[in-house]
Formats: sequence, structure tokens, C-alpha cells
Amino acid sequence: MIVQINQSLKKLNTFGIDQKASRLIWAQSKEEIENYLLHHGAPALVLGGGSNMLLTKDVEGDVLKVDIHGREVVFEDDDYIHISFGAGENWHEAVLWTLMQGFGGLENLSLIPGNCGTAPVQNIGAYGVELQDVFVSCEGILIADGSPFKLSKEDVRFGYRNSIFKNEWKGKTVITQVTLQLTKRNHRIIADYGAIKSELDKIDVSEPTPKQISDVVVAIRKSKLPDPSKIGNSGSFFKNPIVTEVQATELIKNYPGIPTYTAESGKKIAAGWIIEQCGWKGFRKKDAGVHKKQALVLVNYGNATGSEIHALSQRIIEDVYTRFGIQLEPEVNLI
Ligand code: EPU
Repeated sequence: MIVQINQSLKKLNTFGIDQKASRLIWAQSKEEIENYLLHHGAPALVLGGGSNMLLTKDVEGDVLKVDIHGREVVFEDDDYIHISFGAGENWHEAVLWTLMQGFGGLENLSLIPGNCGTAPVQNIGAYGVELQDVFVSCEGILIADGSPFKLSKEDVRFGYRNSIFKNEWKGKTVITQVTLQLTKRNHRIIADYGAIKSELDKIDVSEPTPKQISDVVVAIRKSKLPDPSKIGNSGSFFKNPIVTEVQATELIKNYPGIPTYTAESGKKIAAGWIIEQCGWKGFRKKDAGVHKKQALVLVNYGNATGSEIHALSQRIIEDVYTRFGIQLEPEVNLI
């Protein structure tokens, strides 16, 4: 376990917010985490890849950085392979590694920032695939008593950008391992998302491999999402709101261009479109802004504070509510 005192967290959150932790603890194994909890009790904050959070203040206390690595095959037959990833494994590097081995399943989720351990928390999703589609189980430690847990897919109760870790178990666990099921053959190719289709047409590919899907997804994401190593951001700052069928019909009547998608209950509305309609796309005040190419993404051009980004998000929420009667909810965790 490595301990650093009075440490800036700027490089450990993709928004690039410069707040400090009184103590930053790097935990490289399950045992180190158990040991830490036994001696110190709950840390002030458990940190994964720092890709889905907005720091608005210094953390008075310990930040426990989960830095557990490793990729282990835990099951295999002719069709499937189950791989257990250490929670601290970088998500995109893990995706590329699985594709290099010839395994399918994670290609649509290429280039999503963050680590494997936090992927189940918000059920990361993109281009028609969500983590729950490949999830087998996850393991971790309950903060309250240091006891181990293992949750199956049903236990995690995945929803759209949602899971038990954002509800009943919020702030109560440290995830240490995530096991995913990948395909060795008969890959389940999901290429019906408009942007993927048109990119594949451009390169004249009609039966793409998982690697080709990944390349296309990387190209699409690079073309419209800011690279966190250059411009601080946390991906979509808001969730796409889900409205009733009746509300959706009314919205489509008033705004014929509004993109809507079928959701588990009702219709999902493209928040990026609404925010753009309100005139926020490309907005900038000091170093806090709304991305020029994707209005759902708030950005830090360098030295924005978490409070400035938060204040901007509040203005957007109020404006969208006034004009559209829709209550936007942040997707990122406010700290
Ligand atoms: N749109 C606009 N203006 C904008 C942004 C979007 O008009 O500024 C329109 C687009 O033209 C499109 C629709 O809104 O018709 C949807 O846009 P997009 O395909 O970019 O997807 P999204 O709904 O904005 C979601 C996820 C992304 C994920 C993409 C692709 C959420 C909150 N976001 O964005 O996930 O990459 O779909 O599947 O569900 C993330 O969670 O961090 C993230 C980037």
C-alpha cells in the first residue's frame, strides 16, 4: 500500500479538477483493502478511474485508489470465455486486449474512459450495448465490516446507467474484480446504430468483425467526444431523460426533429439535442464549457473548478426545465 500526503487529484479524475486529498492510499490487492478497512474504517472516498465524478471540494480524509490489476480466465468452452478483470484495469486497454485475443463482446464499448471496476456501477453503455450484456459477476468488499461479496448479474439489478451500486449499495462497497462473458466464435455483432452503419459503408464492410466494429466506434467517438487527456470531461454529464409515451407524443408534436428511442418504460429523449436547442452547445465561461460537438458533455478547458462546472450544469438543468418541462439528471457523481 502506497500512501501519499496532501496529494492533488487532478491527474486521477478525467475532468482534470485540481482538488486535494488529505491522504491518497493506493491499494493494489484485495488483501490491502481488507487490511486498510480493518485498521482505518471507511475512507472518505473510494476512487476508481475517476471518469464519472466531479470534484467540487478537497477531500478531507483518505481517498482509497483501487489499483488492482490482472486478467484471469475463469471459465471456457468452445463458444464462450469468462475473464475476470482486476478493478484497476483500464477499460479501453482491457477491451483492446480481448479483441487482440479474438474475443467478441466489448467492441461497441471501445474507448469509454474509466476502469473495469467502475463499469458496473453505471452500467456503461454505447452504440446499442451495455455492460449488463456481457456481465457475469463481480466481487468486492463491504466497507462496513470488510467482508467479501460476490454479486451475479441479477443481484446487480442493472438499468439504464444504473445499478445497485448507485442505489442501496451506494458508497458501501469496494469492487475488486469484474467477470465478463466474451464470445470465441459466433460473435454477436451489433451494427445497426446509424453512425456505425454509415462508417462501415464508407469502408465497404458488410460483415464486420468485432475488431472492425471497435475501430469504427473509436473513430466515431474521437470525432465527437473530447479526449480527456486534452480537454477535461466526464463523458455525458447528464442521463438521457425517460418520459412517458404521452409526453413523448406531445414533445414530437411540438418539436418534430427531437430524437427519441424506445426505453424499458416510455421513451428516452436525446438530452444533447434538447441542450443544443436551448443554445448551450459550445458555450464557455472561463474554463467551464459545453462541448462544441456534443452538448451532453461538459468540459474543463484547463483550470475550471468543480463548482464552476456544477454551476453551469445547474443553469442548463433550469433552462431545459423552463423550455421543455424536462428535468435533467446528472450522470456523474458530485463529490
Ligand atoms: N444530438 C444533438 N446535439 C448534440 C448531441 C446530440 O442534436 O449536441 C443528437 C444527435 O444528433 C443524435 C442524438 O442526439 O440524434 C443522440 O446523440 P448521440 O448518438 O451522440 O448519443 P447520446 O444519446 O447523446 C448516448 C450515451 C453516450 C454514448 C452514445 C452512443 C448517455 C447519457 N450517453 O449519448 O455515452 O456514447 O449514446 O451510444 O446515454 C457517456 O455515457 O459518457 C457517453 C458518452
